[in-house]
Amino acid sequence: MYILGIESSCDETAAAVLQVNEAGEFIPLSNIVNSQIAIHRLYGGVVPEIASRAHIKSVSEVTRLALEEAHVTPHDLSLVAVTSNPGLIGALLVGVNFAKSLAFAHHIPLVAVNHMKAHIAAAFVHSVAAPAPTPPFLGLAVSGGHTSLYYVHDFTHYEEIGATRDDAIGESFDKVGRLLGLPYPAGAAFDGLTAKGFATLCPSEPSVRGYKKAKLNRQNGMKLPSPALCDGTLDFSFSGLKTASVNLIHHYEQKGEEVPKEELACAFTYEAVEGVYTQVNAAMDQYGNLPLVVAGGVAANSHLRQRLSELATKRNISLSLPPLSLCGDNGLMVAMQGYFEWQAGHLEDTHLNASAMDLL
Ligand code: KG4
Ligand code: ZN
Repeated sequence: MYILGIESSCDETAAAVLQVNEAGEFIPLSNIVNSQIAIHRLYGGVVPEIASRAHIKSVSEVTRLALEEAHVTPHDLSLVAVTSNPGLIGALLVGVNFAKSLAFAHHIPLVAVNHMKAHIAAAFVHSVAAPAPTPPFLGLAVSGGHTSLYYVHDFTHYEEIGATRDDAIGESFDKVGRLLGLPYPAGAAFDGLTAKGFATLCPSEPSVRGYKKAKLNRQNGMKLPSPALCDGTLDFSFSGLKTASVNLIHHYEQKGEEVPKEELACAFTYEAVEGVYTQVNAAMDQYGNLPLVVAGGVAANSHLRQRLSELATKRNISLSLPPLSLCGDNGLMVAMQGYFEWQAGHLEDTHLNASAMDLL
């Protein structure tokens, strides 16, 4: 069967075709992403109204390209899957209405997909190197809007066991990165700046682990708060880490001193990564050594990937990290989760609506 996945929850208009062959393998046939980053960069972040208008402009063309590259027509499709929650409401409505029109005009079944489940589902697409686990497993979604830990009972039944109480991890990278002079979204450049910093600060082991072993977080005056809450929950708070970093940058500026950007990037990344490590480790203490699937834009962070690999080795669990191409928002992950929703019989009709809220 051929599944069309459509994504428009934030600042990427994306469409993809996923084939499920007779052997039950998931084969990506196309994956078109039209990023609006260049538009939003002017404002230092996503402007919802502009995002909706940009989705309207490109959703038809992105879908046409996805079908063309996959060599299928709408008549070949067995399913249309669309992100319906959570996200920017105006942006979501564009994809949902487009998907409804396409599905009902061509008499194709329609399913609605939760954006966070879709991120996790990216691990199951055939091209992903590591074998994906079968539920139950733990899901970690780290993106511009989310920092959540899930107990995945089955492919459509997720239980949130930890989440940020304020800012998301990606949002914090972006905000602090902006003050360090990095272009929006700052994640990838922040990653590189940190790598350079580790190479200078802890050359014998240039990593989060090396930084920790050298106790640099305590010695160089860059002590920042951990985002892992120490209250017995698996929750996070990134606003403290973000605000302390912002204050530190302002402190240097007010004194007329140059901000030590690399050191600050290392101190921030150290706390962000260790905070995630701490809560995932605690989740495994609580729920057992379950396989771990990591997803979302921040899953591209090389330091987080390395540290979670160390945790997986220590715990002797399987770890699924999406390839970098599937970390950010894309249509393939929506098609993949769409397949699971279809298998569970979760079909939609013309009443399907979008929701800014997370409807797990
Ligand atoms: O999942 P995503 O593409 O969109 C949302 O649903 O939010 O995630 C985007 C986020 C941005 O905050 C971006 O800065 C961050 O992912 N990001 C990274 C890296 N690459 C992207 N954060 C840290 N390190 C990276 N290498
Ligand atoms: Zn996302």
